[in-house]
Amino acid sequence: MCGIVGYIGHSEAAPILLDSLSRLEYRGYDSAGIAVYAQETGLAVFKAKGRLKVLSDLVDGGKAVHGTVGVGHTRWATHGAPSDVNSHPHVSADGRFAVVHNGIIENYVEIREFLAEHGVQFVSQTDTEVVAHLLEYYYEDDMLQAVTKVLHRVNGAYAFGIVSTDHPDQLIAVRKDSPLVLGYGKDFNLLASDVTAVIKYTREVSYLEDGEIAVLSPDGVTVYDSLLRTVQKPRHTVDWEVSAAEKGGYEHFMAKEIMEQPKAFRDTVFPRITDGRVVLDNITLDRDDVRDMDKIYIIACGSSYHVGVVAKYLLEKLLRKPVEVALASEFRYSDPIVTPRTLALVISQSGETIDTLAAMREAKRLGARILAIVNVVGSTIAREADDVIYTWAGPEIAVATTKAYSTQLAVIDLIALYLADLLGTIDKAEYDAIVAELLLVPEKMEQILAARETIQYYASIYFNHASVFFIGRNVDYAAGLEGSLKLKEISYIHSEAYAAGELKHGTISLIEDGTLVIALASQAGVLFEKTMSNVVEVKSRGADVLGITSAALERGMCKTVDSVLTVPDTHPFLQPSLNVLPLQLFAYYVSLQRGCDIDKPRNLAKSVTVE
Ligand code: G6P
Repeated sequence: MCGIVGYIGHSEAAPILLDSLSRLEYRGYDSAGIAVYAQETGLAVFKAKGRLKVLSDLVDGGKAVHGTVGVGHTRWATHGAPSDVNSHPHVSADGRFAVVHNGIIENYVEIREFLAEHGVQFVSQTDTEVVAHLLEYYYEDDMLQAVTKVLHRVNGAYAFGIVSTDHPDQLIAVRKDSPLVLGYGKDFNLLASDVTAVIKYTREVSYLEDGEIAVLSPDGVTVYDSLLRTVQKPRHTVDWEVSAAEKGGYEHFMAKEIMEQPKAFRDTVFPRITDGRVVLDNITLDRDDVRDMDKIYIIACGSSYHVGVVAKYLLEKLLRKPVEVALASEFRYSDPIVTPRTLALVISQSGETIDTLAAMREAKRLGARILAIVNVVGSTIAREADDVIYTWAGPEIAVATTKAYSTQLAVIDLIALYLADLLGTIDKAEYDAIVAELLLVPEKMEQILAARETIQYYASIYFNHASVFFIGRNVDYAAGLEGSLKLKEISYIHSEAYAAGELKHGTISLIEDGTLVIALASQAGVLFEKTMSNVVEVKSRGADVLGITSAALERGMCKTVDSVLTVPDTHPFLQPSLNVLPLQLFAYYVSLQRGCDIDKPRNLAKSVTVE
């Protein structure tokens, strides 16, 4: 997490740095800082605990700081509490170098001791400060040489932006395991953790690879590999509009992104269905590869992991192959059973989550074939996977994901159909039925969103509950996991999702008079009946039950629960794509009612680039 930016050109750097940082606040918002160099004033460093606005007010929107080269940072604290002094940029003792860093220097304690023995006095508790002092320690008169020596000395994950008072015509960018984008302008160049920070200024970008060092000047960018040989970087043109990353009249990004889901689903699915068949072009997996596969491992974190939980039900049902869903942070250290006959399905909105990236690399090392589902084009996971299918959700800014989750589910539906077809494990009638329903999902999403006032009404009734339980079976349970996460992350209400049948094995002891239980039961037949029995169990213990069901089951549900939210009917596999919408809206309206900071919930960051 943390966001870094850098500018070098002929304009005042500070307002540009602050503006770029404002687009990276989703990566962390514990504190912010900038360092700008001008010959007359030297290196000016401003840092402030709190949101970027505090810093911006401190420097009058940047007008109070002069200079045409600089770096900036927005922080999600890891080492050292959020404070002015722990904010980046960090500056070497001689004042020559200012560094911004995203990631963690794992061996910083040892380096700190080494530098302390050489007389360095530290001012912060951060891991990053060692980098500024190491630069001073190794510097003779060549920045590139000093940076290279520092890189040999530090372990961990990093993206750095570095300015030096000795070389104000150079801005240095380096990365390993943390994202870094270069933006090419006319008479200026930029570095940033993410394209959203640069597209207001330029659409021409390239992505730095691990171990590469970029030296930016106003007129050009030279990129070196770790042996300091120059590298020709391919340039990409970003084709989405700045407005896609703005609120467009909505009070919150989350509201906007919830409402964008029908479009995002359409953009992701429709171009991939031709004459009623799923076409996943650019996928190198062929029939033989798929037949050879003896296991699918799904690897992801957070909401992407919840997509994986839905995917397991779908893929096992359609492919009749074992599917294991692993939390990326657990996968890597669990000695996973992966062979060249394993397909690893890696799911990540950002394509940069370090746990997911590390797990993917481990799966690859063990011989697995990697198929990634990613939203951010050109991200590290997308680049390193054997095959990638993009979710065309557009930029997602709210920390709590909504449209990325929905489009990931959509891609899972496509992959399930595609693989089942290759394997011959689905009959034509079922294939056609699912495809037909898939094409109707966006319309049905629109119906749910149009009726959002009903959900807002329920939120106004239930917003004050201290604890909420989500129950469901099969894919309803999987959707409940996501509904519960949405609620807790943005409203700070304690919530848990349980497989409905499991609640009685302990957790039911927490149900008492007035406890809110959100029961998802949208699968006809035995799953519905069994879930309703579990609903009766919690009702008997005093729970207030809000049911979520599909139109065909509404009457059956109404008899037992206190309130019902009904979504349109669809194919059972696709029901999570509809069921999750009222859950997202419920979480949104509950947090609105509670006055929470919806787009930037406390302690969280959207892109988690630390382990
Ligand atoms: C963070 C975000 C979650 C997200 C998770 C995985 O925790 O707050 O919304 O689901 O990371 O992120 P990814 O980008 O890999 O999907």
